[in-house]
This record gives sequence, C-alpha cells and structure tokens, in this order.
Amino acid sequence: MQIVHTLPALADALKPYRHPAVVPTMGNLHEGHLALVRQAKPLGDVTVATIFVNRLQFGPQDDFDTYPRTLAADCAQLEAAGCDLVFAPTEQEFYPEPQVFRITPPPALTDMLEGQFRPGFFAGVCTVVLKLLCCTQARSAVFGKKDYQQLMVIRQMARQFTLPVDIVGGDTRRAPDGLALSSRNGYLNAAERAQAAELHACLQSVAQAVRAGNADFARLEAQAMDSLRQRGWQPDYVALRRQSDLQLPQADDALVVLAAARLGNTRLIDNLEL
Ligand code: PAF
Repeated sequence: MQIVHTLPALADALKPYRHPAVVPTMGNLHEGHLALVRQAKPLGDVTVATIFVNRLQFGPQDDFDTYPRTLAADCAQLEAAGCDLVFAPTEQEFYPEPQVFRITPPPALTDMLEGQFRPGFFAGVCTVVLKLLCCTQARSAVFGKKDYQQLMVIRQMARQFTLPVDIVGGDTRRAPDGLALSSRNGYLNAAERAQAAELHACLQSVAQAVRAGNADFARLEAQAMDSLRQRGWQPDYVALRRQSDLQLPQADDALVVLAAARLGNTRLIDNLEL
C-alpha cells in the first residue's frame, strides 16, 4: 500500500488507473470504515482511502483540536483491509490558501436534522468532499449510512454537478449491543459506553411501532425523545423521514428514523431504515 501526502504524489500514484474507488475518512478508523474499504474494492481498479480532518466542517465548539489523529494505526488497518493507496494531506497541502470558494448546499436539505444543530457542517463537508473527489479522480466513492443525511446531501451534490462518480452507501457496523461504530465512541467513559446502545434501542422501538401500524409520527418522536431524556440523554432530535430526501413522509414513502443525542459530553447519531 502506498501512502502519499501531497497532491502531485497523489496524481502520480493514480496515473496507471482509470477507475479509482475512494473512501473519504477523517481517520481514527474502526471496523465501520474498513467495511467501506472492502465494499469499495470491487468497484474500481484501485482502492483509495483519504484521511483528512477537515477544519471547515467543525463548528467553534466542536472537537477539531482534540479529534484523534492516528495515522500510523489507520494505515496499518487500511493495508490489512486491502486498500491500495492512502492520501493523507496536511492542512497546508490541502488548503494552502483560505478556501474561499465553498459549496453552499440547499437549505431544504441541510437546515434540518444535523444541519439545524451543526450550522455550516454540510457546507464544510460538501466543500471538502468535492475537492477530495476531484483530486482522487474518484469514479466510485463509498460513504457510511450512519451519516445518513451526509450521504444524501453528497449524492444530490454529485448528481446536480454531474460529477463522474457513483456515490455508494455502506451499511452501518454495530457493536454486539447495537451501538453504531463511530470514531466518537472513544469519547465515552465506561458508564456511558454501557448505556450508549440505548440510542439504537430507542430507534428500534420507534421502528417497531411504525411497523405495527402506528402512524402518529409526531407523537412517536416526542415519546422517544422523552424516554431518552428520562435515561439521562439530551436528545437533539428523533425524526421519522422519507429516505430519499429526508423530508416529511407521505403515504407509501420508504422511511428512515434518525436520532442525535448527547450522552455526557459525547454527541452520538444513529438511524434505522424501515
Ligand atoms: O464522514 C466523514 O468522515 C467526513 O464527514 C468526510 C466525509 C470524510 C468529510 O470530511
């Protein structure tokens, strides 16, 4: 596996290939990321992972400075997962001058759910993803479904800009108790970790109620948020939406239930397709 840190070295390493399959990450990798790499492998003639902690998508109160940077361990895991090429630029390399050209995603897709609680997040994500897709010459790119809204926004961006890339969603990997794997799980202390699967359980009970015919979505969402609060969580949202664009569902729409909640100082997100 080759590891490159500069744009010219990346362009050089990509020369023999026609169809890079790319997995963009911010590093601190876990089994969820590695599953995306394995999913990407048959999609292209070279499997590329990017590792870049993107300042543009962090708010002033977010964990940009403390976000774990674990390049050596990440590369060892990527190599074992069959990755061919890692692009891990420094900030100076990737943003050598202030990134004043930015993507402004449409408010209809981003003023709700994650976008409501993390202003500027999707502008930062779209800007870096567009730049990463361009410089890796991605023809396929795999993003985890755990960040469901992120995947939807990136998919729509790629479609509207007619980017020559197929955006592919990868299923969420879970710990045996149901907790969705996430780099931020590492922030949980032992007591919080023991409790953390309650978020997934909460989504399951909403999904179960809907499958049983309960169509009072507003009430189900409110009840789920109450039950999280009673267990000591601070929920931002529990929301039943249609899968395609995360708008309020109409009859017969395929549904997804999404949640974000804070446990202590750690904010977790999760979702379940119904
Ligand atoms: O999901 C992530 O890890 C990041 O948001 C991404 C897509 C790599 C962009 O920085």
